[in-house]
Amino acid sequence: MLPDATLLQPQVSPPPAPDGDAITLAQRGCRVVEFPIVHDPRGNLTFIEGGEHVDFDIKRVYYLYDVPGGAERGGHAHKDLHQLLIAMSGSFDVTLDDGTSRQRFHLNRSYYGLYIPKMIWREIDNFSSGSICMVLASERYDEADYYRDWREFKHAADLAGR
Ligand code: TYD
Repeated sequence: MLPDATLLQPQVSPPPAPDGDAITLAQRGCRVVEFPIVHDPRGNLTFIEGGEHVDFDIKRVYYLYDVPGGAERGGHAHKDLHQLLIAMSGSFDVTLDDGTSRQRFHLNRSYYGLYIPKMIWREIDNFSSGSICMVLASERYDEADYYRDWREFKHAADLAGR
């Protein structure tokens, strides 16, 4: 359990599949990853090693900061991109959606990361003052990799057999 990093309560329960076999966001690979902490009275240290703590090659790092109160980010899914979101400072909420079910995560520790595989819609809100959302990404920026319309994403997810 990661009680201080996540709110693992689904906001909307996934509808039961006819055969009772609904695939969860966790089964799609969405998960909270805990990074090592080197505790030190001078200040703690956390490190992230490619191939060890993230299972993709990190090709890009970006971060959201100076986010005004009440702002919402995200609102898209990626066709192929994998990402890991980390609350480097402060806190925010991330809602993940596979087109069928939604789950909300609260990130507030810099030693936890939320792994988001491809074809998962994400919305980020409830940013605390001074928060920083750092993102490790498996690819460089490519607008063609985005679904920015939920219905288009849902259609593609359904075609993929969800
Ligand atoms: P976007 O990914 O939509 O941000 P968010 O999901 O946080 O709302 O990107 C916002 C803008 O920034 C968009 O015009 C594309 C640009 N951008 C880049 O140029 N490079 C990047 O690596 C990213 C993530 C975005």
